[in-house]
Amino acid sequence: MYREAGKTRFQLDLRRHLRSQSICDNLIHLICEIAEASKYVINAVRTGDLGVAGTSNLYGEEQLALDVLSDRILRKRLIHSGVVCNIASEEMDVVYQAQAEGPGLYSVAYDPLDGSSLVDVNLSIGTIISIYKGCDIFQEGRKQVAALYILYGPRVSMVYSVGNGVHEFTMNSLMEYTLSRENIFMEPAGDIHAPGGLRKKYTRGTENFVSYLEGKGSKLRYSGGFVPDINQVLMKGKGIFLYPALKDAPKGKLRLLFELNPMAFLIEHAGGSASNGKIPILDVKPECLDHREPVYIGCSEDVQKAVEFLALEADT
Ligand code: F6P
Ligand code: MN
Repeated sequence: MYREAGKTRFQLDLRRHLRSQSICDNLIHLICEIAEASKYVINAVRTGDLGVAGTSNLYGEEQLALDVLSDRILRKRLIHSGVVCNIASEEMDVVYQAQAEGPGLYSVAYDPLDGSSLVDVNLSIGTIISIYKGCDIFQEGRKQVAALYILYGPRVSMVYSVGNGVHEFTMNSLMEYTLSRENIFMEPAGDIHAPGGLRKKYTRGTENFVSYLEGKGSKLRYSGGFVPDINQVLMKGKGIFLYPALKDAPKGKLRLLFELNPMAFLIEHAGGSASNGKIPILDVKPECLDHREPVYIGCSEDVQKAVEFLALEADT
């Protein structure tokens, strides 16, 4: 609770908000456990005293890179939550089975510390989480029951959806997540763009699309971190992020399970869309843990325009 110009306001915390979402207790518990884990991740990122893998700390123990440490923090918490069967992490080569299939269990795919190369230069980074009911992790993203990300920026924020609106929470001085924006909604078209990858490697369709955006006065807003870049597009409610097919990487760079599906779920539930240039990201059937796809994600009219430019390229 806090006071503002004579008024008393209640800060709605994450757990209470989740309870208003008509979801089962296990899912509430799981999301709250992930929120708890993120407090240890941000602490490690902020103090930054863990060094790099292969070096030793004061006590002669091996130190961990932040992405490896973040992975362990999250995995441990998920295992101990008691409500998770399978876990897939961008940091692991195989699916980890926390417990055998059973009623009321969930599977989680996550990117523990996206953009970790930006830690050195003190730019914003994040954690991205995708949640499915049951033990199958290789389902289309549309079957997710929840998705969220945590943005470690000047402020720490969490954005989640369980399919009933998209909501933002901000970490307060007590490290509690309290509601800051509810039912975030995107405009049909925007005026900022965040284009990933090297432009000289773009195919003709993408190059023409980016030229079209520039021609209509769209501003370049790219940080190099997927979480802050998506957060900007989502919170401003206008804009597009793309990481297209490149001439030497036809599947682009970003991973379907850990990065694209959760973000596409959030953006779609905020009224935007996400496409691989042909079909919605959420309809792509994952083939393997490392499955990558090109992505155009943001305001629906902008994404539609990208799809049209790419179709034109295919025709010529
Ligand atoms: O995880 C990959 C990542 O670091 C994303 O956070 C980011 O969007 C992308 O790579 C940036 O890649 P590039 O430097 O090729 O634009
Ligand atoms: Mn990543």
